[in-house]
Amino acid sequence: MKVLVVGGGGREHAIIKKLKENKTIDKIYAVPGNGGIAKDAECVNIGAKDIDKIVDFAVSENIEFAVVAPDDPLVLGAVDALEAKGIKCFGPRKNAAIIEGSKVFSKNLMKKYGIPTAQYEVFEDMNEALSYLDTAKIPTVIKADGLALGKGVIIAETREDAKEAVKSMMEDKVFGESGSRVVIEEYLEGPEVSVLSFTDSKTIVPMVSSMDHKRALDGDKGLNTGGMGTVAPNPYYTKEVAKDCMEKIFIPTIEAMNKEGRPFSGCLYFGLMITKDGPKVIEYNCRFGDPETQVVLPLLKSDLFDIMKAVSDGKLADAEVKFADEYACCVVMASEGYPKSYEKGFEITMPSDDSGIFVAGAKLENGKLLTNGGRVLGVTEIAETLDRAIEKSYATVEKVSFKNAFYRKDIGKKALAAYRG
Ligand code: AMP
Ligand code: GLY
Repeated sequence: MKVLVVGGGGREHAIIKKLKENKTIDKIYAVPGNGGIAKDAECVNIGAKDIDKIVDFAVSENIEFAVVAPDDPLVLGAVDALEAKGIKCFGPRKNAAIIEGSKVFSKNLMKKYGIPTAQYEVFEDMNEALSYLDTAKIPTVIKADGLALGKGVIIAETREDAKEAVKSMMEDKVFGESGSRVVIEEYLEGPEVSVLSFTDSKTIVPMVSSMDHKRALDGDKGLNTGGMGTVAPNPYYTKEVAKDCMEKIFIPTIEAMNKEGRPFSGCLYFGLMITKDGPKVIEYNCRFGDPETQVVLPLLKSDLFDIMKAVSDGKLADAEVKFADEYACCVVMASEGYPKSYEKGFEITMPSDDSGIFVAGAKLENGKLLTNGGRVLGVTEIAETLDRAIEKSYATVEKVSFKNAFYRKDIGKKALAAYRG
């Protein structure tokens, strides 16, 4: 069977390496993939948002199954377009991907169905938003409605910063049309947990929990990034929290989507905050998280493709989804300067065993792998203890080199401290 994976980052590399374990797959294509993914799949130079070309390619190559991984093509309707040509897909249709594509939609959904989340107001008029901020509780959180490359959330510590954020989104349109509506919401406190889940809209199976490290520098300092590392499982996701989430968040969310006539099928990502009043939803994503996927999938013991097919067929209840009773740590190696400007084009050298290395920003040129992005790759190791997984990841990081490499030295430290109580 021929499988197509849409996307070209570390997440897609992790998905592809896992799919390769399935013996019924003869060939995997990646659009666009990247220089590192090229070792594991045939990369085709079509942009992940270029849906017409993706569909044409899939039809001409007789692709039987497609995995659409990134938010943009999902929100733009890539699954609908592929399905219209008879190609089975893993991923939500456009009318369900809106759960990530519009924060206003997801906040209103949670309010309507009593799913715990931060209190909020929606504004379409800038002056109303600004006058609301005259009396709003500070700190407060400003969110652009639409997709904004993961940058559409601003935590404002002062009233002035909050107003600046609103103006930048609504007047200066720094996120384009994504900022024509904003959500202003209550600032929540507590540890954050990421839970990815498989769901076919009838059954929901949470994967092992994980902890992202979003800030660029050690000690959670510096700018927000796409994620500088992850560990799994997350110590704050205890059995009690998991039970609470299942009853109050996970099942109510898929039921709410069904009631709205927007059944969600694929990977539904819950960004949670464990507050003193219990777990609350910070955000939904309609896809696998990155770099969460780089620790979650290596811990998956069951066959990923079998699960994906079961989800696509609406038979998730019959699939086996088992995770190893172990720990994983992923350290992201980035280009110095990320998430701002950085240089690229430096040669990457890797250890001979690169099974736990997921390439995100690299290209092949004359047989050499060169850096080609902010986040260059993720290094994941698994072990029976978190200490050991962290140690092993950093040992492997030492074996990878490229000029201007930059990475956090404290991935997993907070989780370790929490496990130790
Ligand atoms: P997002 O882009 O939605 O993932 O948000 C980025 C980050 O902003 C989250 O991971 C949280 O750390 C933080 N955040 C978002 N909403 C809130 C909130 N209501 N209270 C506190 N922190 C928040
Ligand atoms: N790591 C967060 C995300 O994928 O949105």
